[in-house]
Amino acid sequence: MNQAPIGIFDSGLGGLTVARAIYRKLPNESTLYFGDTARVPYGPKSPTVVRRYSLEITEWMVRQGVKAVVVACNTSTAHALDLLHTSFKIPVIGVIAPGARAAARAGAGRPIGVIATAGTVASGAYERAIHREDPGARVISAACPLLVPFVEEGWFDHPATRLVAEEYLNPLRDQGIGTLVLGCTHYPLLRPLLSEILGPSVALIDSAEETARSLAAVLGERGLVGPTRPGGRGDHRVVVSDDPERFGRIGAQFLGEAISLPEVVTLGVG
Ligand code: DGL
Repeated sequence: MNQAPIGIFDSGLGGLTVARAIYRKLPNESTLYFGDTARVPYGPKSPTVVRRYSLEITEWMVRQGVKAVVVACNTSTAHALDLLHTSFKIPVIGVIAPGARAAARAGAGRPIGVIATAGTVASGAYERAIHREDPGARVISAACPLLVPFVEEGWFDHPATRLVAEEYLNPLRDQGIGTLVLGCTHYPLLRPLLSEILGPSVALIDSAEETARSLAAVLGERGLVGPTRPGGRGDHRVVVSDDPERFGRIGAQFLGEAISLPEVVTLGVG
């Protein structure tokens, strides 16, 4: 048994969709969430910069005493997960392998679409992870950079979001995808819209639930499961690198519950 919190980090707000799945799957566990709101977005940044940010955050989390780290950001997972695995002794879990596993399971012989940030798509990390599960799978990836700001604006079903999403998704639909991986923290909030555009024959995969399941398995294997707490709820500490008010306001939509004003911690040099 281990009472220490689980670290969860993202470039900003989006990782709260992963935090939500972890809170639900592991209600007794305490967490430390870090949203790098001063340096968001990571999607268009170079792998070197994203690796530096991810390393700084994980080092800070380890100093705070976390027992495991979940890299909730797809772009960080794509660029930095291998580096974090070799740099730290505690378990570090990314969101790409769990999402790829779920996609390969749901694939049913039709091509698998992946939508993500430019950085994640350019890294090829989802293709590699899906091919590890199903070497014969046909994977079609599309960078959808404009969707992140629409989600941050709360425009989940706005005509402008629909227009842009159709532009990105029509080529995937025309190529007959049977599954679409939502390979960016923000996209689960667009799920109803995306599923309306693609129709009922395309299964949408959100890696959050699968990541929470992987985390539960790793905690069990490594003897790191937390104690059962009275009331069945761990402590959830939330820290950001800038603008805690906005995070508190918009974060509730990502988390699906009210969120108290986060602390502010500055890391690195920007
Ligand atoms: N968190 C990022 C991801 O999942 C999306 C936002 C960003 O570009 O920083 O890839």
